[in-house]
Amino acid sequence: MTRGLGKAETGPAIRNSESAMSRVFSGIQPSGVPTLGNYLGAIRNWVPLQDTHEAIYCVVDLHAITVWQDPKELARQTREMAAALIASGLDPDRCILFIQSHVQAHTRLAWIFNCVARLGWLNRMTQFKDKAGKDREAASSGLYVYPNLMAADIHTYHATLVPVGEDQKQHLELANDIGEKFNHDYGVDFFPRIEPLIQGVAARVMSLRDGTKKMSKSDPSDQSRINLTDDADAVALKIRRAKTDPEPLPGSEAGLEGRPEARNLVGILAAVTGTTPAEVLRDHGGKGFGAFKEVLAEALVAHLGPIQAEMKRLLADPAALDGLLRKGADRAEAIATPICEKAEELVGFLPRR
Ligand code: AMP
Ligand code: TRP
Repeated sequence: MTRGLGKAETGPAIRNSESAMSRVFSGIQPSGVPTLGNYLGAIRNWVPLQDTHEAIYCVVDLHAITVWQDPKELARQTREMAAALIASGLDPDRCILFIQSHVQAHTRLAWIFNCVARLGWLNRMTQFKDKAGKDREAASSGLYVYPNLMAADIHTYHATLVPVGEDQKQHLELANDIGEKFNHDYGVDFFPRIEPLIQGVAARVMSLRDGTKKMSKSDPSDQSRINLTDDADAVALKIRRAKTDPEPLPGSEAGLEGRPEARNLVGILAAVTGTTPAEVLRDHGGKGFGAFKEVLAEALVAHLGPIQAEMKRLLADPAALDGLLRKGADRAEAIATPICEKAEELVGFLPRR
């Protein structure tokens, strides 16, 4: 038995035959309307990776149902998220874009990973503790094994680079532990190590009602976020009503210390105009928030307008959108299924043919 001795004869056949260009994988849940936070913190960073890597992006509906989702809403939000991704610049010809539940390799490999990951590992996951809240007994078992499915999402493509927010780092460490334990237990070098590509702190968009809380699509207050589907009037109103402090804007970044709401609005303007907070403050330092908010609302509407128009166009023809996603699923499957089947063979499952 070669357990623990590194490479066995069953070795890395698939991995070595793949191109040297590292493969990127990321996913986003269709658990609400995509927000400005999702856009600036995640989606927008996925776009340039299409040109430098083989990029695979997925709307993770299987992950979404780890907490209750109204079926009609889930279906609508899944299409809406896919449309938002394309409208934001993901090109179904330059990347692989699909819906997670359309590719069975994810759940097949996730089952194997359920049997690889240890309960002790899952017990340390802070997202489970946060999402399950006080009444852990009432949480779904899916929510508990959520990180195993996420590990399968990535490993079934032998992806090595994963752009995510800071909050997902612990899950990626677990994915590496799972890959390593699988390799060790079956005496192979099959699953590669995964590197997180963590988006910088500047990309963290905060709630418009509380500058210390993340802008979130699950926040009960719609006023706390800009949705990618908000029209120009809604954007302007939400920005006008955004919480601020009574002081005018400072002239430099040091002056943002202890002013989370000001920092957030400055960061948003910098992000949508392709400048830096320092430049924003150089141009607008000394202004009151009334005037600054007008500038910000205008810039946001100008930036989001074309994205929203494209989203609308895509959603007006669901059959065409579904066609794009079906094609994405076919391409994803062509990569994922052989890797998943190799893992099944390594485990000792008899092939069907
Ligand atoms: P979620 O909305 O939690 O499913 O997150 C999807 C992706 O968007 C993840 O990569 C998050 O890190 C990112 N994200 C969500 N909310 C924000 C935010 N307020 N600021 C920056 N990134 C965010
Ligand atoms: N858990 C991630 C989030 O909530 C979404 C996700 C699912 C994901 N599978 C993934 C991200 C694989 C990166 C890679 O943001």
